[in-house]
Amino acid sequence: MDLGLTDRVYVVSGGSRGLGFAVARALTAEGARVVVSGRDAEALAGAVTALGGQRTTGVAADNADAAAPERLVDAALQRWGRLDGALINGGGPSTGSMLHLTDADWRQSFESVFLGAVRLARVVSEHLAADGALAFVLSTSARTPIPGLDTSNGLRPGLAMVTKSLANQLGGRGIRVNALLPGRITTERTRYIDAHTPTGTSSGSATAAIPLGRAGEPEEFGRVAAFVLSPAASYVNGAVIPVDGGATPSY
Ligand SMILES: NC(=O)c1ccc[n+]([C@@H]2O[C@H](COP(=O)([O-])OP(=O)(O)OC[C@H]3O[C@@H](n4cnc5c(N)ncnc54)[C@H](OP(=O)(O)O)[C@@H]3O)[C@@H](O)[C@H]2O)c1
Repeated sequence: MDLGLTDRVYVVSGGSRGLGFAVARALTAEGARVVVSGRDAEALAGAVTALGGQRTTGVAADNADAAAPERLVDAALQRWGRLDGALINGGGPSTGSMLHLTDADWRQSFESVFLGAVRLARVVSEHLAADGALAFVLSTSARTPIPGLDTSNGLRPGLAMVTKSLANQLGGRGIRVNALLPGRITTERTRYIDAHTPTGTSSGSATAAIPLGRAGEPEEFGRVAAFVLSPAASYVNGAVIPVDGGATPSY
């Protein structure tokens, strides 16, 4: 199947490692070009090199910075003169449970994870033509709370509804908006969560509870996201899609 990605241009925020990097790799492997972002310029430069350089531009940017989306869009337009979509991704919110999280924890997570995502979607959408696509990287916490990750449990369901609302509003222009819900996919983030949440909530027993019996690999997520962003997924819109090995206990 030809995904129709050749020479299309995507912003991949949080693309220097983990899931974002895997999506950038899947997109470029299919002939697309990507602007990847992350806060650490050195890590970003390494990612650009690993992605082959020719089809990749790195922009050091923090999702919490209101100026970040324009910088990412400008980079795409200046280098390639077009923009076809974005993977809206970044670092996860603070760990902690509801009764211990402070206002500062919530504000920091909101600025980066929620507002950062909404703002990037809004700015990118202004530059998309018909058949453009946005995909939010959320979490299975959009449907089922994850113990020890209450900022995620609070913010992700709202972003899932942002996805639906934006899909309704942009569909008339031919622009598709979807969300992906990773379950447990091995990255630096999952290693961090294992070290900072109660034993057994995100490792060991949690892996055993996944119907496929294992954590996912970033490449398995990357392929799904590349498809959803591609013209091959032309009738997938307003969907909230788990990539979790069957872990979410509902359809
Ligand atoms: N992996 C999973 O199983 C899983 C499950 C559920 C949800 N998720 C969610 O999926 C997203 C990606 O997860 P991951 O596992 O790939 O995490 P990761 O391995 O920690 O990678 C996060 C990426 O985002 C960048 N980033 C972090 N904070 C950023 C910010 N404020 N602005 C711009 N870029 C930022 C990081 O680079 P810098 O640090 O240099 O900025 C890095 O490139 C997260 O939101 C996470 O909560 C992941």
